[in-house]
Parts: sequence; C-alpha cells; structure tokens
Amino acid sequence: MKQVLVLGAGYGRNTKELAKYFKVDGIEVSASAVKLAREWDTRSNMIQASVLDVELPKKYDAVFCYNLLHLFKQEERNVIINKCSMLLQERGVGFFTVFSDEDSSCGKGALLEPNTYEYKTGKFAHFFSEMDLKDHFRNFTILETGSFREQLHYAHQQRSWIHLRYVSFLKK
Ligand SMILES: C[S@@+](CC[C@H](N)C(=O)[O-])C[C@H]1O[C@@H](n2cnc3c(N)ncnc32)[C@H](O)[C@@H]1O
Repeated sequence: MKQVLVLGAGYGRNTKELAKYFKVDGIEVSASAVKLAREWDTRSNMIQASVLDVELPKKYDAVFCYNLLHLFKQEERNVIINKCSMLLQERGVGFFTVFSDEDSSCGKGALLEPNTYEYKTGKFAHFFSEMDLKDHFRNFTILETGSFREQLHYAHQQRSWIHLRYVSFLKK
C-alpha cells in the first residue's frame, strides 16, 4: 500500500479521506487537534510534532499539505519545503494548497515580508501568486498549478470564501 504523509493534519479532515486508499501518517502540532483527529480518523497514524523539526524514520510515496505553508514566513516556508523533499522518495509526489494573492485578505494590514501581511491582529499569512508558488517549488518537477475557491463554515451558520492556489510536483 502506498504511504502518504499529511503535514498540518488538523482534526483529520484530509487524513480520513486519504486513509480510504493509502497508509497515512499525519503531523500536527496542536495537541487538541491530534486528540480530535485520533477520534475522527481511527485509520491514520497521528504524530504530534512540528513540521519544522520533525524527524521520521521512513520516506513516503506522497506528501499532502493543505493550507499550512502560508502560515509561515519565508525562512520557515523553505524549511518546510526542504523537509517535504527529505521525506519524499525519489519520484514521490507532492500536493500543497496555499492562500492565493487573489484572496480578499491579501494586502490588508501591516506588510511583514513581500506578500506577507498581518491581516488580523496577531495573525499573518503569505499570499502566493502563481509565479511565487512555482518559485517556492523550483527544485521539484512541477506537474500542475491552479486556483480555486473554498467555502469555510463557522459557528452560527456563518460562511466565507477563501481563494487558494495548488501545486502538484514530483521529487527529482
Ligand atoms: C488551516 S489548518 C489546516 C488543517 C488541515 N490540513 C485541513 O485542511 O483541514 C492548519 C493546521 O496546521 C497546524 N500547524 C500549524 N503549525 C504547524 C506546525 N509547525 N507543525 C505542524 N502542524 C502545524 C495547525 O495546528 C492547523 O491544524
């Protein structure tokens, strides 16, 4: 069975789907999210650790990372991408989603780094153009990039839309 690693697994939304087809490990830094994930997705193996310094004994056929990378500044984004490369087998496949520079929060608040804004007090994110996204993954063979919108659901039936970009790639 193919082995998939999910970075920033949250409460198990991604791992639960992937575990229907693959053997899945999930990395998640939040203890409460790991607890929820272990209850919600009993098939996957959840590891409480930071993607920035996690050491794992094996290499994976695929790395999946949904809405994590934009939470970091440039130096740490590079650490995560290098970590992804180290954890992928040769010709292993990666899939990342990130905030798009077309999102309505892009450009709001203090500019901390190029295209990185403190869009709410204490909350910052990096907003990717297509070229920027490709540049982050320049050491891989890029298969596809694209963009889409996702609806978020909150308490009291509140909803909002976010603009995302995705990239799929192969380790060279
Ligand atoms: C926006 S959520 C996305 C969760 C999941 N990928 C999904 O789509 O439902 C980002 C997740 O990354 C986790 N996270 C943030 N920093 C992390 C780190 N350094 N290492 C591992 N997980 C981290 C957060 O706790 C949160 O659960």
